[in-house]
Amino acid sequence: MTQVRAQASVNVGAIERNCARLRSELREGVSLCAVVKADGYGHGATQSARAALAGGASWLAVASAQEATQLREAGMREVPVLIMGALNADELEQAIAVDADVLVWHEPSVQAVAAAGGGRVHVKLDSGMGRLGTRDPDEATRVLAAAREAAGVELVGVMTHFATADELDDGGFFERQLATFASWVEPVKAEQPDLVVHAANSAAVLRDARAHFDMVRCGIAIYGMDPFGEDPVAQGLEPAMELSSYVAEVKVCRAGESAGYGRRFVAEHDTHLGVLPIGYGDGWRRGLSNNAEVLIGGRRRELVGTVSMDNITVELGADPGAELLRGECAVLIGSQANERITAEELARRVDTINYEVSCALTPRVPRVYHRDGAPVADAWPADAQRA
Ligand SMILES: Cc1ncc(COP(=O)(O)O)c(C=O)c1O
Repeated sequence: MTQVRAQASVNVGAIERNCARLRSELREGVSLCAVVKADGYGHGATQSARAALAGGASWLAVASAQEATQLREAGMREVPVLIMGALNADELEQAIAVDADVLVWHEPSVQAVAAAGGGRVHVKLDSGMGRLGTRDPDEATRVLAAAREAAGVELVGVMTHFATADELDDGGFFERQLATFASWVEPVKAEQPDLVVHAANSAAVLRDARAHFDMVRCGIAIYGMDPFGEDPVAQGLEPAMELSSYVAEVKVCRAGESAGYGRRFVAEHDTHLGVLPIGYGDGWRRGLSNNAEVLIGGRRRELVGTVSMDNITVELGADPGAELLRGECAVLIGSQANERITAEELARRVDTINYEVSCALTPRVPRVYHRDGAPVADAWPADAQRA
């Protein structure tokens, strides 16, 4: 039995199928852009990107020039890569050097791209998110004109981003954002039909086909997590990541004895404790102290006591057979027998979102890749052909 202290195994086959599932929502001709920022939401950016491309994505999106560079250096040289984040002058230069698409939303940002040697740009209208982009449709139109005129600048797309696509009960805000964007985009698209119009994140893709335009930008759903925080399986999505550890020690815990910092668990009756070498240093949140379950031997076991940096303790019960669980695999996210623990369940327990659960895993947790159980080499046949 392999005993790995903490490991995230990622099924690239699931990412491929999740992309195909998302594409099945899209009408003919609409492109899927896979969002692989933040190291592929914790899954590994390059491996996730390759799987997404194999599953039918034809664009990639990231947040920074460094992330775009990572994809290019991994061999993804011809696929368009959109950087969705703000860029300082050095970062803009790096973005252009790796042939990434960047956002512009005021005239100086267009001039900055031209001054850096030119590149591919997307104009961002802030239709209500209140982050990057201009809130003023007239300014966005002026930026379009500036981008068309600036030397070396290629106007590729126009975009917006929804603030409440994942909140079905949003008082009509999604609808208003959609209307604002659609009414700005209509004449723009009529004037330049080859512009790539994009707005939808995962939730918007599943929520409203009117938001699909020419391309959708999906992150959370390609990893098999539900943008609405519910069970992803109900949306036909397959969680790609499984997080596991193992039972490194089993010890008797008599009634009145405690486990962990601060004695937050005191046994009410004689029991056994299992010690798992995973903790908040791995990204297993301390807020899960006395507030999570782990799968061992095909059953849910309660996490008891405080989550430490490197260890957690679980209750294994009074049965002397608990001793036999020493060395057993423990699944913290994923399934065993008929039980399943999702990132959404964990997110609910610590009052956060599934995005943060997978992103929280630290570099100390090795990511290993397989396709439906068969190990995959870290290589992409298409790259080998191009090299
Ligand atoms: C601008 C933009 N578009 C698309 C996405 C993808 O969103 P999701 O992961 O909800 O699909 C993000 C992620 O936060 C984003 O910032």
